[in-house]
Amino acid sequence: MTDSVTDSVTDTGHGSPVPADPETLRERALASLLIARDRTALLTGCVEEPDLTAQHSPLMSPLVWDLAHIGNQEEQWLLRAVAGQEAIRPEIDSLYDAFEHPRSERPSLPLLPPAEARRYAADVRGRVLDVLARTPFEGTTRLTEAGFAFGMIAQHEQQHDETMLITHQLRKGPQALAAPDPGPAPLFTGPSEVVVPGGPFTMGATGEPWALDNELPAHRREVASFAIDTTPVTNGAYQVFIEDGGYDDPRWWTAEGWAHIRRHAIRAPLFWHGDGGQWLRRRFGATEIVPPDEPVLHVCWYEADAYARWAGRRLPTEAEWEKAARFDPATGRSRRYPWGDADPGAEHANLGQRHLRPAPAGSYPAGESPLGVRQLIGDVWEWTASDFLPYPGFTAFPYKEYSEVFFGPDHKVLRGGSFAVDPVACRGTFRNWDYPIRRQIFSGFRTARSVDA
Ligand code: AVJ
Ligand code: FE
Repeated sequence: MTDSVTDSVTDTGHGSPVPADPETLRERALASLLIARDRTALLTGCVEEPDLTAQHSPLMSPLVWDLAHIGNQEEQWLLRAVAGQEAIRPEIDSLYDAFEHPRSERPSLPLLPPAEARRYAADVRGRVLDVLARTPFEGTTRLTEAGFAFGMIAQHEQQHDETMLITHQLRKGPQALAAPDPGPAPLFTGPSEVVVPGGPFTMGATGEPWALDNELPAHRREVASFAIDTTPVTNGAYQVFIEDGGYDDPRWWTAEGWAHIRRHAIRAPLFWHGDGGQWLRRRFGATEIVPPDEPVLHVCWYEADAYARWAGRRLPTEAEWEKAARFDPATGRSRRYPWGDADPGAEHANLGQRHLRPAPAGSYPAGESPLGVRQLIGDVWEWTASDFLPYPGFTAFPYKEYSEVFFGPDHKVLRGGSFAVDPVACRGTFRNWDYPIRRQIFSGFRTARSVDA
């Protein structure tokens, strides 16, 4: 499992081949901000006031906190940092500072009530549209070059839109959201795994104007040959692990993982319950039979790691995952996405809350990698074996609290995005992270194994 850094990459020849011009980026920034706000409006408009101010889980903020926090971050970065404006309501900054108040405390804070939170976010947005129209995107500071701050804020809002969707999944009560299901399972006749040949590849973002600090700098990485599953692990496969006594056999679990599942009596993915020999799950307020061909969802890192060991395999490292997703063996280049450099379309991946569930394993043939690996982008976040660590030469930008304070062994990296992630916040280089016990997130996994070169 070699995974070592060789040297750093400064040219942009390994990334997106066509850098966008400033006016295209400005249009993209505007569209991304508008799409995010439509999604926010839907997620905060589909329930009544009491459901906006309630805390549906100690793991989550009240929805009304996310709403005003979205506005507050936008105000801080686009109105104050970019445009030099005075604070609109300086007294609320601390309420919406994620580090001052843990999620469990947020419902007891004097938060803006829903109507006021909406007005505040709309007020900020109105002023931001003026700032966007007149901010130079070229030859400026790093904050505004290529519209970075606008892209960062669109991504931030979309990240909270995913967070709010998690809150909806945890909320008790009837269904409030609806979306069409993905198409039926395709006939996938490919192999269950493919071998990714050993050798160096470019890891990290190049020529990607809105890449976040933790995706940088790009660097060359040596990755030994390995095999990786062509699809995420399915509910059906995971049920075999359960039925084989996987949750009762300490051989498959790390010491911490075993202690954790015993202490919390965890015996199946979150939201599952057994009923007369079959598994049911609760999904956005409805109960349904667990579909066997869909990627497993709502498992923690310990469960993913245990399944892999039971299967005689292991989780891929983060570098292996990114090489499988981006490396083109024909050219040796790292591409933006498994399918190439084109922005994600509906034919490539299940993204953007278009569907409120993963698509069956083997879906999206147009989104497969050159080696035939499917669904690396979208559907489910994929746990990797790796801790969340900085790339060599990392510098925090524009603030340490986005990535830097989370680096270290406490957090595991997830890759690829879920059905809940918007394309603006999803790339072959995008890094997510969480504690290994977390499973309210839209998390699944695929497995890998080392292969002798
Ligand atoms: C990257 C998803 C771990 O939600 O904690 C939102 C994203 N950072 N606001 C999170 C984020 C600041 C972050 N994750
Ligand atoms: Fe945030």
